[in-house]
Amino acid sequence: MKNYKRFLITAALPYANGPVHIGHLAGVYVPADIYARFLRLKNKDVIYVCGSDEHGVPITLKAKKEGKSPQEIVDRYHNIIKKSFEEFGISFDIYSRTSSKTHYKTASGFFKNLYEKGVFEEKVSKQYYDEEAKQFLADRYIVGTCPKCGYDKAYGDQCEKCGSSLSPLELINPVSAITGTKPVLKETKHWYLPLDKYEGWLREWILEGHKDDWKPNVLGQVKSWLDDGLRPRAVTRDLDWGVPVPVEGAEGKVLYVWFDAPIGYISATKELTPEWEKYWKSEDTKLVHFIGKDNIVFHCIIFPVMLKAHGEFILPDNVPANEFLNLENDKISTSRNWAVWLNEYLEEFPGKQDVLRYVITSIIPETKDSDFTWKDFQAKNNNELLAILGNFINRTTTLINKYYNGEIPQPENLNDDDKNVLEAIIKQKELVEKNIEKYRFRDAQLEMMNLFRLGNKYLTETEPWKHQKTNPNLTKNILYVSSQIAAAGAILAKPFLPFTSEKIFQILNLNNEELKWEDIKEEVLQSGHKINKPFLLFEKIEDEVVEKQINKLKETKKENSSKVELEKKDEIEFTDFEKMNLVTATILEAEKVPKTKKLLKLLLDLGSEKRTVVSGIAEFYKPEEIIGKQVVLLENLKPRKIRGVESKGMILMAQDAGGKLVFVSPEEKINNASKIS
Ligand code: 2FM
Ligand code: ZN
Repeated sequence: MKNYKRFLITAALPYANGPVHIGHLAGVYVPADIYARFLRLKNKDVIYVCGSDEHGVPITLKAKKEGKSPQEIVDRYHNIIKKSFEEFGISFDIYSRTSSKTHYKTASGFFKNLYEKGVFEEKVSKQYYDEEAKQFLADRYIVGTCPKCGYDKAYGDQCEKCGSSLSPLELINPVSAITGTKPVLKETKHWYLPLDKYEGWLREWILEGHKDDWKPNVLGQVKSWLDDGLRPRAVTRDLDWGVPVPVEGAEGKVLYVWFDAPIGYISATKELTPEWEKYWKSEDTKLVHFIGKDNIVFHCIIFPVMLKAHGEFILPDNVPANEFLNLENDKISTSRNWAVWLNEYLEEFPGKQDVLRYVITSIIPETKDSDFTWKDFQAKNNNELLAILGNFINRTTTLINKYYNGEIPQPENLNDDDKNVLEAIIKQKELVEKNIEKYRFRDAQLEMMNLFRLGNKYLTETEPWKHQKTNPNLTKNILYVSSQIAAAGAILAKPFLPFTSEKIFQILNLNNEELKWEDIKEEVLQSGHKINKPFLLFEKIEDEVVEKQINKLKETKKENSSKVELEKKDEIEFTDFEKMNLVTATILEAEKVPKTKKLLKLLLDLGSEKRTVVSGIAEFYKPEEIIGKQVVLLENLKPRKIRGVESKGMILMAQDAGGKLVFVSPEEKINNASKIS
């Protein structure tokens, strides 16, 4: 492994179009924060940079909807987001924003550099244009039906249902998101980054060079992009919000948000320190990008190609992307308000930042999607933080105050058990360290807690309170050893639970700033050192408190499902309707399609024949529940192969605004193959 002199940690810049939620914390900011705090404790030269991503169509669309300017929108959310991060102890060295002057200059200069080197391909092509709004429809300004999965609200850049990356011209029945009108095609010029020319280099750098140290989910996505073949990607847009394209003939055009946003890491570093080049241009720096899985292509393909083409900057040593966090078994969604918002959490759980940090770290979606539940939140607070960590610190420091007036006792003739416990301090330190270095923050936190677990067990087994009268030396030894665990544990906990760690330092009368990682030793506290009186580190969280949160979510679900709005479509002729052969059918067999979450393979009775249909209902119905159910089938839909299974037809389902699907069934049983008209 390379011996780096300094560390540059970046965390994905959140869009300034809404507050941040637990999914953001779990995927990016908490893991990156643990990493940064750990490195600082090790006295490393480290900077942790982030900021708001203030360009892009979602922001201008939101501004339009609210009758505000994009600047007003980003000002509002930049401040909310920044405050939430500060309150949660996310220890950025700088939290900047992409509407800053420095960023405009840096992003513009970066583009110019590539332009002058002749890196870009200039192309005139036809793009959708809204004649009413008099504007080109980039990315999310255009919606239509996804050609891959049929979802009818796919965006011009991506289908959020099936995750496919799209271009506007691929959409079926495109309409403008501004006026709802049908767009026309009009010629426009743009600059393209020729990703295809870097394919070989990317393969070698990532798939060969990093095959052993990058996470499998990241390598898998990169490989699939490369295997699909890379194409030149437009890095400019016809929009009026963003960094203007700094070349002649580009009036009214701005940089694509995904071109300027990652340059935001560089701009933020420039704002932080005049020595920014030391971090970005020296091979001695280890650059690590913390991101969520939806950002992999941008951080592993597009931005590295930009950096490589520029030539003066270093490339990331690692991009430890996480999967997604769900909430109570459902995808976190801003539009459905299905989230725990950090600003709201802090209002309802003041002072409990570390509880959320702890719970979140224990479920970071490191290898697969994971789930946050309020019951788990309660259990981890009550049974782990309070019962293990809090209890251990409280027992140890109460007894030291009681027996020795707060002075750490002098040990004498420690026995093997005592020595083993002291040695465990070093062992746990090494385990935490190893896991953090491999970006395994869940295990790292677990090993940190194991030290307190061990301490608790030691106290319970040795029962120092029983020997105080009969064998005071024994009690002294036990409490000496316990106090070492408390102090070493406080340092060990610092990257994970910064607020709690600080409180333990206060109780132990230690200076938080002075103690470093290498002070985690068998003896942290010397005999005679005077500690303070303990105070409560964690409070029990009662059932009512989490039930209130669960009920709030239930209300949200109810509201979402009652909020269905009639969606208008173009008029059709009766003959159009007649083309659809809708008939009744009964489900004879149902089974899950292997390796899928949503698909069921159904065998249907159609009277004179049997039919296989694949249906995306597995999240709502278990196979055994639906055998014998009569349903409506669109019988003459062109057969399609779905995950290797030929599906002939489509079952009609009703879908509410929350995405819930229910069968459309005849009210009474009727013969199969009865025609519906
Ligand atoms: O996905 C997002 O939220 C983006 N705003 C992340 C940008 S990361 C970086 F490139 F700036
Ligand atoms: Zn799709």
